[in-house]
Amino acid sequence: MIYKDLIDHFAVRASSFSNNGWADNKTILQIIADSASSFCPYANDILDYGAGTGIVSEYLLDKIPNLKSITALDVSSEMLFHIKDKRIKCVISSVESTPFNNGQFDLIVSRQCLHYVHDLAKTISESKRILRSNGIFVLTQFVPLEDETKQYWKELTRIRQPLRVNYFSEKDWIDSFTQNGFLPLSLKRFTIQSSVSKWSDHYKNVNESQMQEYTSMLLNAPESYKRKYGIVVKGNDIIGQTHGVTIVFKAN
Ligand SMILES: C[S@@+](CC[C@H](N)C(=O)[O-])C[C@H]1O[C@@H](n2cnc3c(N)ncnc32)[C@H](O)[C@@H]1O
Repeated sequence: MIYKDLIDHFAVRASSFSNNGWADNKTILQIIADSASSFCPYANDILDYGAGTGIVSEYLLDKIPNLKSITALDVSSEMLFHIKDKRIKCVISSVESTPFNNGQFDLIVSRQCLHYVHDLAKTISESKRILRSNGIFVLTQFVPLEDETKQYWKELTRIRQPLRVNYFSEKDWIDSFTQNGFLPLSLKRFTIQSSVSKWSDHYKNVNESQMQEYTSMLLNAPESYKRKYGIVVKGNDIIGQTHGVTIVFKAN
C-alpha cells in the first residue's frame, strides 16, 4: 500500500505537530511509559510504530532501564525529520511490512497510527513476527465510548479525519489483536479536553466546508452525545472531551 495522501497530509503538519493538541499531553505519555515499564521492564530494543515526530520514543528514553535501542518507524520522512535525539534510529517504512528480523524487538509501542492502516491483520501479524516470543505491544488509540454514541462518534470523526480507515472502539482493537495472535493483559482509559480551535490548529489543512460540517454536527449532536462527550459552546469555540485507551497485549 502506498500512503501518498497520508504522507502529503503529514508533510503539512510535521513542523508543528509536536507542540499541538494532544501530542505532548503528559497524562497519555505517562500511561504509555507506565504500561511499558510494568509489562516489559527490561526491554532492550523498542520499536515505535508510526512514530511521527518521536514524542513517545523520546518520552520512553529515560523511563526504561537497560534500554539499548529505540527505533522509530514511519511512512513519513517529514515527520521523522523532527526527531533530534541521536539515540533514536529512524526507519522509513509502512507498518504492514517492515525490514526487521524475526524476534528483533522486546516491545512495540504505537500511539494514534493504526487507525490509518489499510491491512490491519497483516500489520498485527508482522508485529508478532518481529517481536520476541512473549513480547509486548502497547497500543494507544482514541476511541468512542462503548454505547449508543458510537455511531455519531464515527460520523464526526470521519469529517475530522478523512484519511482514517478504521473507526474502532476499544473492543474492536482487542478483537483485532486477539484474532491475530495476541493476548490482552491490561487496559487503561483516559479522557482529555479538546476543542474545535485546538483541532484546526493541530491539523494545518482544515478547509472551510470541513469546518462548517464538523461544527454543525457538534452543535446538532443528540443531547446524550453532548452530555457524554462534554460538548459545550465556550466563546467562539466548542469544547469537548476525547476518550482514549492504552491496551497492553502479549504476543501469544
Ligand atoms: C497522528 S500521527 C501520531 C504520531 C506519533 N505516534 C505520536 O503519537 O506522536 C500518525 C503517524 O502515523 C504514521 N502512519 C500512518 N500510517 C502508517 C503506516 N501504514 N506505516 C507507518 N506509519 C504510518 C503517520 O505518517 C504519522 O506520522
